[in-house]
Amino acid sequence: MMRNTATHSGVRMEVPFFRPKISEEEIAEVVDSLRSGWLTTGPKVRQFEQEFAKAIRTARCVAANSCTAALHLALEALGLRPGQGVLVPTMTFAATAEVVQYLGGIPILVDCDPCTTNMSIQDAARKLDQLKSAKFNKLVSQRVEVVGIVPVHVGGLMMDINAIKQLASEHGLWIVEDAAHAFPAAWRSSPDAPWQRCGGDTATVSCFSFYANKTITTGEGGMAATHDEEVANHMRMMSLHGLSHDAWGRYSGTGTWDYKIMAAGFKYNLTDIAAGLGIHQLARAEQMRHNRERIATRYLEMLGDLEAIELPPTNRNRIHAWHLFPIKLRLERLRISRDDFVSKLRQSGVGFSVHWRPLHLHPYYQETFGWRPDNFPVATAVWERLVSLPIFPDMNDLELEYVVDTVRSLCAEHAR
Ligand SMILES: Cc1ncc(COP(=O)(O)O)c(C=O)c1O
Repeated sequence: MMRNTATHSGVRMEVPFFRPKISEEEIAEVVDSLRSGWLTTGPKVRQFEQEFAKAIRTARCVAANSCTAALHLALEALGLRPGQGVLVPTMTFAATAEVVQYLGGIPILVDCDPCTTNMSIQDAARKLDQLKSAKFNKLVSQRVEVVGIVPVHVGGLMMDINAIKQLASEHGLWIVEDAAHAFPAAWRSSPDAPWQRCGGDTATVSCFSFYANKTITTGEGGMAATHDEEVANHMRMMSLHGLSHDAWGRYSGTGTWDYKIMAAGFKYNLTDIAAGLGIHQLARAEQMRHNRERIATRYLEMLGDLEAIELPPTNRNRIHAWHLFPIKLRLERLRISRDDFVSKLRQSGVGFSVHWRPLHLHPYYQETFGWRPDNFPVATAVWERLVSLPIFPDMNDLELEYVVDTVRSLCAEHAR
């Protein structure tokens, strides 16, 4: 495809990995919260929860001050106990596995699919078998009962929900979906099947992130979504010190002054200041997803002929949130490593990230659980090829073309 390189005429630009866009309406809403006196959890949090539940078609949502907090609340509400195991992808961010350990659980890391980098269901089944046969690694010297699975939809491309549900039902596992990247996203099992939104009924609990660079943001924030009323009530109680009712009940005219401590809870409640931002971001979510998709489509068109890179997969049975645009370098066609490639991107002014160094290659996981690179051959090999390119809703054509031209020049200059 012909590309218009004349626009930036070889002039160096700075393109950030991500640039948030906060509208005037959103700023006004935050100011309104400040003026209303509801600095902490109040009516805007309730409104945000209800509108988010409606958007993903679930029954109940509990807001939290991060996705990490939402994941912790979910695992606690489902009764994870010390010594129990939870299947977690090795290809994920720290949060997905650390929350298991907050409760004394053991993350059983699982390898990834080489194309999507999502958790491999085959390897999850294999790890379950290996645990039973006591030939895994030093973990099995203590008997591990695996009780749950925490799939991650990397970059916003959803996993096959039927496959996860089948594995979970065969092994009696609950599913807590780490949907930090997957709003708004959807999947269907085939072109004839109805679309199901991520969080609609895709897991026992689905947890979303509203961190600054996520598809919608509240600065910091998260949401746990579920159809289970008991789980939702428990998560709500635990999100505010295990109190019998939250500050809204206590301080509004409808609540009473008295409260009872029902459990040793956490301090995970979202503020009205953040929720005010979230309500407006939510209203723009589809538009922002559309803009991200437009950028992804242009990248796919403009980089499609490059032999030195593999582009992220698409799937007609998925509505992709396009939180990330991860390319994979074909290192056999290049004379430089991924690390050299990204440092040259940086020198050229192009922001990037890598999602992720897999958990089993971090010192903590190696030292604590004795995982070895060959326990996860796919993730071990693929992570050295990963580069996430900039993608954000108001990325302009000039920025996009600059990124494309920089990637193309690097591939040409360092071709093997
Ligand atoms: C896959 C995944 N899970 C969880 C989180 C944690 O989200 P938060 O920062 O809202 O706690 C992140 C953050 O980037 C993430 O990428």
